[in-house]
Amino acid sequence: MVSGQDNEITNTPCEVAEEKMKAEVSYMKAKHLHIVTMGCQMNVYDSEQMERLLAPMNYRPTADMDKADLILVNTCAIRKKAEHKVYSFLGRLARMKQRKPELIIGVGGCVAQQEGYRLVELSPHVDIVFGTFALKRLPALVRQVTEKRTRVVDVDNTATDEASYVKPSGPQGERATAFVTIMTGCDNFCTYCVVPYVRGRQTSRKPDAILQEIQHIVQNGVREVTLLGQNVNAYGLKNGHGCDFPKLLEAVNNIEGLRRIRFTTSHPKDLSDKLIGAFGRLDKLAPHIHLPVQSGSDRILRRMNRGYTRDCYLKKVEKLRKVRPSIALTSDIIAGFPGEETTDFEDTVKLISSVGFDNLFIFKYSDRKNVPASRFANKVSGALKGERFARLLNVQAKITLQKNLSLVGTVQEILVEGLSKKGDDQLTGHTPCNKIVNFVDRTALVGDLVPVKIVEAFSHSLLGCPISGLERHYDKNGGIMHAA
Ligand code: 5AD
Ligand code: SF4
Repeated sequence: MVSGQDNEITNTPCEVAEEKMKAEVSYMKAKHLHIVTMGCQMNVYDSEQMERLLAPMNYRPTADMDKADLILVNTCAIRKKAEHKVYSFLGRLARMKQRKPELIIGVGGCVAQQEGYRLVELSPHVDIVFGTFALKRLPALVRQVTEKRTRVVDVDNTATDEASYVKPSGPQGERATAFVTIMTGCDNFCTYCVVPYVRGRQTSRKPDAILQEIQHIVQNGVREVTLLGQNVNAYGLKNGHGCDFPKLLEAVNNIEGLRRIRFTTSHPKDLSDKLIGAFGRLDKLAPHIHLPVQSGSDRILRRMNRGYTRDCYLKKVEKLRKVRPSIALTSDIIAGFPGEETTDFEDTVKLISSVGFDNLFIFKYSDRKNVPASRFANKVSGALKGERFARLLNVQAKITLQKNLSLVGTVQEILVEGLSKKGDDQLTGHTPCNKIVNFVDRTALVGDLVPVKIVEAFSHSLLGCPISGLERHYDKNGGIMHAA
């Protein structure tokens, strides 16, 4: 629903025409757009969509927030901390708007969807609240604010058409990797999670649209795509496009010029044998899977409504490793879920130690509005959550470092992504198993695949040294067969 709030200005017909003309002229002038993206990779993709959608209105992206005519905040509601970050950032924008009253401020994403009108009530400096379903209506909302000087809220979630996006056009800038959303929403209703409420039901994009988008970005220099969805394993199961996720992967694998495919996130209950088999069949599918386990206790997994047992998860890990022995595994864990007893927690510690994840994202359980777990009894105290969180971090830190150290001396194929944040003229990229490698190479360009010898390992990255001067052997696609 699009609706004007307070601050409505009533003009005479003549003034309206003049205003309209002024507005049209101002559309012709380049205006500056600054987007602040919080949260997950899907928000990164959605922010790119916002740029594409507003380009025909002459909005040009700027990294300098002070220069912006329009600031959009793309928000995340997954945990309380993420939501607090939104409000504290909006406080900063309030001060900015006092100095620059013509600035337009829009809030999009999951917090916008969840809070809707409350957000404009709480934040009088916010002009546009656009929920996760309103992305495509963003130009109309911006136009409405510009022309009518009104504040607008669009949190309509009744759209039933399938997920679709604006196609990229033109060059992709200097980037070797890109995200491509293949489905939105989630039907799983894990008891702690807000996603099904703020992103709606599972909806898949048409395979042709996905393939065309990937072809376009690959022709423009992208070498690696990460296919995104809350539960990519369920891609196509509902929409009847005649293409499930393994079939989509196969089609993406056939795209000429593309070198690596990644995907996230996979729900363990939907990880089929056919998809596991794809890791053995598809040469471009990178040997890494993010497979969130959340807990090592069957009792807690049941309370979370995850739909698998600890044993079932471990069997899938075993199968994956059989098909692709080099596969890297990462996962998510929630510490201190309501009702988590010491024995449940110890089961999680044991699972982490026995699987040996390459990396782990650990979160303290956070109550979310209206989700079932927020009404569960036996909440774990903040102090105990903190203790468990610290213990898990500690256990995993040792495993991660051990895994990284085991790579010292090996040669890894690195996709050059750009300059490292560390400076020192270092380039940065990832190994096929998704580990960050920094190295100095005076000749490599963004998008090159370079064989790099790992010389040092740290907890979050590796240091490499390019194998230059030594003979490299290439296969017919330009892939490195081996480096001496
Ligand atoms: N509290 C803590 N962590 C959560 N996650 C999702 N919802 C919550 C919550 N309410 C974590 C899960 C999920 C990851 C993206 O965020 O581990 O996999
Ligand atoms: Fe949330 Fe569960 Fe869906 Fe993941 S699978 S998005 S945790 S409801």
